[in-house]
Amino acid sequence: MGSFTRLTAAIAAAVCATTTAAAAIEVSTTAASGAFAYTLGNATYYSPAAAVVSGCFADSKRGSTELLPLTVLETDQMTVTADVLVNLTRTYASLDDVWTPNFLSDGALVLLTPPGAVLDASAGAWIIATGTRYLLPTTGLDISSFGSSGVNVFFVPGSWDLKPGPYTFSIGPAGVTIRQTYALHRDRLEAFVFGTTPVPGLSAYAQVDLVVSSYQDAWIPVPSRLYSLGDGRPLAGVRVALKDIYDLEGVQTGGGSRSYAEVYAPPNKTAVSVQKLLDLGAVIVGKTKTSQFAHGADPWQFLDIHYPWNPRGDGYLTAASSSSGSAAAIAGYDWIDIALGSDTRGSVRKPAALVGSYGIRPTWGSMDLTGVIPLATEMDTAGFFARDPALFTKVAGLWFHDSSSVPVNKTFTRFPSKIIYPVDYFPLRNPAAQTLFDSFLATLETEFGMLRTQINLTTTLRSTVSDPAITNSTTFQLSSNRLAEYVSYHQVGVPLAEKWTAAFPGAGYPPLDPNPRAAFNRSASLTPSDYDAAVALKNKFKDYFLSTVLRPNAETCSEGIMVLDMGTGGLPSYREQALNALPGATALSVTIPAGGPNMPSNYLASTAGCPEVGIPVGQVSYRSEISLQEEMIPVSVDLVAAPGCDGMLLELTRRLAELGVAKTVRTGRTAF
Ligand SMILES: *[C@@H]1O[C@H](CO)[C@@H](O)[C@H](O)[C@H]1NC(C)=O
Ligand SMILES: *[C@@H]1O[C@H](CO)[C@@H](O)[C@H](O)[C@H]1NC(C)=O
Ligand SMILES: *[C@@H]1O[C@H](CO)[C@@H](O)[C@H](O)[C@H]1NC(C)=O
Ligand SMILES: *[C@@H]1O[C@H](CO)[C@@H](O)[C@H](O)[C@H]1NC(C)=O
Ligand SMILES: *[C@@H]1O[C@H](CO)[C@@H](O)[C@H](O)[C@H]1NC(C)=O
Ligand SMILES: *[C@@H]1O[C@H](CO)[C@@H](O)[C@H](O)[C@H]1NC(C)=O
Ligand SMILES: *[C@@H]1O[C@H](CO)[C@@H](O)[C@H](O)[C@H]1NC(C)=O
Repeated sequence: MGSFTRLTAAIAAAVCATTTAAAAIEVSTTAASGAFAYTLGNATYYSPAAAVVSGCFADSKRGSTELLPLTVLETDQMTVTADVLVNLTRTYASLDDVWTPNFLSDGALVLLTPPGAVLDASAGAWIIATGTRYLLPTTGLDISSFGSSGVNVFFVPGSWDLKPGPYTFSIGPAGVTIRQTYALHRDRLEAFVFGTTPVPGLSAYAQVDLVVSSYQDAWIPVPSRLYSLGDGRPLAGVRVALKDIYDLEGVQTGGGSRSYAEVYAPPNKTAVSVQKLLDLGAVIVGKTKTSQFAHGADPWQFLDIHYPWNPRGDGYLTAASSSSGSAAAIAGYDWIDIALGSDTRGSVRKPAALVGSYGIRPTWGSMDLTGVIPLATEMDTAGFFARDPALFTKVAGLWFHDSSSVPVNKTFTRFPSKIIYPVDYFPLRNPAAQTLFDSFLATLETEFGMLRTQINLTTTLRSTVSDPAITNSTTFQLSSNRLAEYVSYHQVGVPLAEKWTAAFPGAGYPPLDPNPRAAFNRSASLTPSDYDAAVALKNKFKDYFLSTVLRPNAETCSEGIMVLDMGTGGLPSYREQALNALPGATALSVTIPAGGPNMPSNYLASTAGCPEVGIPVGQVSYRSEISLQEEMIPVSVDLVAAPGCDGMLLELTRRLAELGVAKTVRTGRTAF
């Protein structure tokens, strides 16, 4: 048993007449003043400022102030025995990674029981033995067998709405304050901008600006899983890391830019897509780092914020670009369940492949992106990462559920029989990765009766499409870039510059990272008709692709499933630019050789609006320039289908998980 050690100043005494809880100087500097951190046993915890219970009660005033850990136990037993309580605490400890028995010793104990329940002598003895200082039974619990014991007892009014789990409890002249409590985890991978906690009773969140003083790693608050025990919603208690381009009411949206965070107030409304997850019961634990405004960037081009650490291999590999914070978090921390990213031209699919997690880019247009910083509205999608294929398919099925005019769950009566294998992108550069890829395809063939069909995309494209703006990869990429440049400039860059000038007269243009700065510079000369031309070219490719390569099909949803690699083909790509020029390593963005494929593989689904699911299939070794030993790098297979076939791809993933082919990946150095 550990002792309760408060990490900050003691709670100030306050007069009972002041019903708003008055706690003193705290760890946090901004919104969460009144919050505090403490240690218990070997762990660090946090209690936010907002209380779930606060006020004076007839028998709750004490002369001096005490601050204690508190446990809420809830049972439906009419006779509460020691056995009942022992079983309950064992269950709590096994279900949760926040509550521990340390909360009992020298703590307060709330017992939620049905009306007319009786506490027997064995339970009383157990409570005393745990070292409980305050016992707070539900009004009406018969505690006549609970002898005088030095334990302070007062009854919990029925109006208190407490869920089982860990809390902090303070009592003094100001009455009682009960606050939720969170396990604090050190963000060693620097994946987060800051942590967040829901404000009890409100739709808003509070920002937790707490850092470990050395290295400035954020402390991330993780809620007890016990808080959602009685919550029947399908994603109750699912812990989510949220990319910092999604608005969350009450906390700063930064979009990876210090300038942006400086001039915009925290949003007063949560993004529609995020609200949908909250309504399903999910809880946001923090905002994760993004490249600036989700523009593509290599790790060394992150200047406003430090690039997150990909935990895989030697810890010095890239996790690609804009959703890298979310990808690092899902691969590094078993205390989060899913991480939200966004995918415009690969920013869920690439990081997912690089960290070896599940990832999805849904059918374009299927999610309302109000409240999300836009990049290229013609290609932007909301996606996410997960380690567990069962949770991955469950969340996707609920979150992307057909609720807009753009379907994600078109019907199918059987899986497609064709695996479309575009030879342009194969073989993978590491033969061991190709072997893993092939063996996954062999499983699709034997288990689902599919057959691999080779196509040369470049040849098919050149023989069907006459528009040189499409067949020439240089002009096509330029046009595709304009979809982002134009929208990002007009919807983000221009308003930001205006706000900056108004806030800091004479300060000139807001400082930006190199890629958005260059993109905004190019965009300044783009006309609306340049943009319209880029949209038209994109749609022309989409029509071509969906009529010749990945055709919709009534029986199988998509005539075939295209397979692609979104990673590096099993070669290391480091966060340090110079190392990528060494033999055996690779840059992440590969320049397309003459006669090679028309476009990078990540452009296909983005341009044609297709759903794409990434499945980690294994790992291969490489010799690290950092650790100077063999390390492992994950290999994934991406599956692409016609728009609206998200449900089919997810059902296939679910079946692969049942077969044991799609496995839960681990956190840390290796995925498997
Ligand atoms: C902390 O204590 C728990 C038991 O209370 C133990 O399981 C865990 O391994 C300890 N963690 C560390 C980092 O010492
Ligand atoms: C406590 O758990 C044990 C073992 O699971 C069980 O045998 C016993 O009936 C339980 N007792 C109560 C009171 O729930
Ligand atoms: C919320 O913020 C928007 C944009 O800043 C503003 O127009 C609106 O009035 C605010 N609404 C409330 C209820 O404060
Ligand atoms: C598609 O529909 C099935 C059956 O109703 C459901 O189980 C699944 O979750 C849905 N998937 C999506 C992506 O909406
Ligand atoms: C592709 O377009 C670029 C830029 O317009 C041009 O320089 C190049 O010659 C074109 N390539 C071919 C093969 O036409
Ligand atoms: C673009 O960059 C050039 C070179 O730095 C600079 O002279 C010019 O003012 C910039 N224009 C805009 C619109 O950002
Ligand atoms: C695909 O076709 C292009 C153009 O015909 C050709 O240059 C290339 O070698 C082909 N790729 C493969 C892998 O066969």
